Amino acid sequence: METTTQNIVIENIKNSKIDQVDFDNLAFGSVFTDHMLVCDYRNGAWEAPTIMPYQAISLEPSAKIFHYGQSIFEGMKAYKDADNNTFLFRPLDNHRRLNISAKRMAIPELPESLFMDGLKALIKLDEKWIPKKDGSALYIRPFMFASGKGFHASPADEYKFLICLAPSGAYFSGKVKVLIEEKYSRSANGGTGFAKAGGNYAGQFFPTQLAVEKGYNQVIWTDDHNHEFIEEAGAMNIFVRIDDTLITAPISDRILDGITRKSILQIAESEGIATEVRKFTVGEVVEAAENGRLKEMFGAGTAAVISPISTFGYRKVDHDLPEVQDSFASRLKKRIIDIQYNRVEDPFGWRHGI
Ligand code: PLP
Ligand code: COI
Repeated sequence: METTTQNIVIENIKNSKIDQVDFDNLAFGSVFTDHMLVCDYRNGAWEAPTIMPYQAISLEPSAKIFHYGQSIFEGMKAYKDADNNTFLFRPLDNHRRLNISAKRMAIPELPESLFMDGLKALIKLDEKWIPKKDGSALYIRPFMFASGKGFHASPADEYKFLICLAPSGAYFSGKVKVLIEEKYSRSANGGTGFAKAGGNYAGQFFPTQLAVEKGYNQVIWTDDHNHEFIEEAGAMNIFVRIDDTLITAPISDRILDGITRKSILQIAESEGIATEVRKFTVGEVVEAAENGRLKEMFGAGTAAVISPISTFGYRKVDHDLPEVQDSFASRLKKRIIDIQYNRVEDPFGWRHGI
């Protein structure tokens, strides 16, 4: 056992599991590295974190996470460059968003130094687990939940913050087909849609299962009021290209402020691609698809990176997207991953070496 300068206690694994992992065939988020970080909130303060071997944790059956769902998470990645240096992408934005989610879910906010120092110490320890294969990265899952006990429906008095790491391949295998949702809603004005709250995802599972049964991968959520405006997908923000303009919905109470989304907007603007951040309707997209003006549709997120959509379903009709040469999706994806993997200059200051 050792203690870092940031007072992080480190308990090292005895035998690494790394040799059991097939790094050439990684799924998304299904194998975990040797260590994890655990930090407790007790008596009104976050305690010093411990990095320990990845293991099960024990909780009281009355822990409020089980009953009232006080739980939030983040999604980030660590990348290796050709010289074996390690980089994060805009990690302070993840920390900021974690605290935005925490506030909305009445969870105590986490100090930036604890987040950043803990994250870096954990990644350094498990650095060998960062995949080098193209299209793979080390997916990082920071999360916080109510471990305090009691059936009273009120915020817990104890919380846990953990970080687990999962060497991961692509989130989607193959073409992405989406269904535009008209019945169920993911979020509402004044709700928690802008937070990365576990419950937002749980509420999506049933409608998404119905879509999967019909052959789609994800649901595209529309506004809860009239199901008229396109908002975002289950695990990514959505962009459409009509003629040569890239359009995405403005963030709101109901939409996650995606870090990939805002990076893509900046990259597109810097490359002279016309962008519009505005509300847009399903009708506008269907009409553009019917008259050949809808050139592309893609999802953007940490896990999904940039995932081109091949088909969208709406009111029992499937609309296929055309094959486009030199698509915006491929140009923007190349630029963002080149920045993430330290293959090109980063004029935006997004890359964060560790
Ligand atoms: N929207 C939802 C609902 C998500 O879960 C995600 C993934 O984190 C995103 C959008 C994309 O956000 P980011 O680019 O920050 O990963
Ligand atoms: C991410 O992209 O990091 C996410 O959190 C999406 C998740 C549902 C896999």
